[in-house]
Amino acid sequence: KIYPVILSGGAGTRLWPLSRAALPKQLLPLVTDKTMLQDTALRLAGRDGMMAPLVVCGNEHRFLVAEQMREIGVNPLGIVLEPVGRNTAPAVAAAAHFLQAVDPQAVMLVLPADHVIQDVDAFYAAIQRAATQVESGALATFGIVPTAPETGYGYIQSGEQLAVEGCFKVAKFVEKPNRDTAQGFVDAGNFFWNSGMFLFRAESYLSELAQFQPEMAKASEESFTKGYRDLDFCRLDETAFTACPSDSIDYAVMEHTRHAVVVPAAIGWNDVGSWSALAEVQQADANGNVTRGDVYTDHSSNCLVRAEGRIVAAIGVQDLVIVETADAVLVAHKDQVQRVKQVVDHLKANG
Ligand code: GDD
Ligand code: MG
Repeated sequence: KIYPVILSGGAGTRLWPLSRAALPKQLLPLVTDKTMLQDTALRLAGRDGMMAPLVVCGNEHRFLVAEQMREIGVNPLGIVLEPVGRNTAPAVAAAAHFLQAVDPQAVMLVLPADHVIQDVDAFYAAIQRAATQVESGALATFGIVPTAPETGYGYIQSGEQLAVEGCFKVAKFVEKPNRDTAQGFVDAGNFFWNSGMFLFRAESYLSELAQFQPEMAKASEESFTKGYRDLDFCRLDETAFTACPSDSIDYAVMEHTRHAVVVPAAIGWNDVGSWSALAEVQQADANGNVTRGDVYTDHSSNCLVRAEGRIVAAIGVQDLVIVETADAVLVAHKDQVQRVKQVVDHLKANG
């Protein structure tokens, strides 16, 4: 039995102006006609051994999340509500406590809510492979063959091959290296990108967390024990969770643990971290344009054009991202879309 734990937090500022604090990217229909959270919940639903998902999200998104689950007919095991954002390590810890209360042997599959996985059969096979490792306390990661020295990812160096084919010990886990280090990892050939998905027993994660981040382990446990159940919602205690240090599972646990395992996974993975990444995972027309909404293109190629309300016409332009929404319009070169983040910073600083 495997319990999917869907992490539905984070702001997704790189997909401004569509993605906002009030409506982050995982709650939007960006790639298909369902939201990314809905696609994540449905991806493995009904497969052998997969239990109903547990969603972890910010308190402010509880009704949207509950409604989106209802819309697709998924009845979640629960929805854990974070009173404040404390990044992924405490979110996963709270989920681990929830699951342990349901099933002390629970194996959890941590899934970010905003990834695209094109080959679900291959993904399920990778999960089955990883599952052979977790009983002995392993924290399994899913490794993606790197195609560029991206600095926004974690890098996993694979070590010794384990008894089960396709499973390796992790020699080293390095979260978000600088450019030169990342280039070195890509050149070395035995490094994978960390996909941000994990499989482990709730108990294994909690004991590693207690070892490496005792303060975080204590605060997140307290937030669960002092919290309460309110229908589908599990409300974490605000005081305890607010006092919890903030860090990602990657820095807090994965860089330190000696029990990490990597399962290389060729699954058509994309974390849709930018407008150009979104363009890549969608079907383009004969001119390489990806369009959504009321869009007209002429002598334009390799563009992503999205119209939410008004008509957008693009004439004689190449390699642009054009996103129209009710109160903001983005026009950017595809090679510069990482800078969209700075727009959000600018807007925050200037009201
Ligand atoms: N519930 C909850 N609460 N979810 C959160 C929180 C939080 O406080 N913070 C982030 N998340 C969710 C995000 O919505 C996202 O789905 C996922 O957790 C990962 O967080 P990101 O903030 O997107 O992490 P990252 O992209 O910088 O890095 C992670 O993902 C990379 C692959 O996409 C790391 O795991 C890297 O090692 C990895 O390569
Ligand atoms: Mg991310």
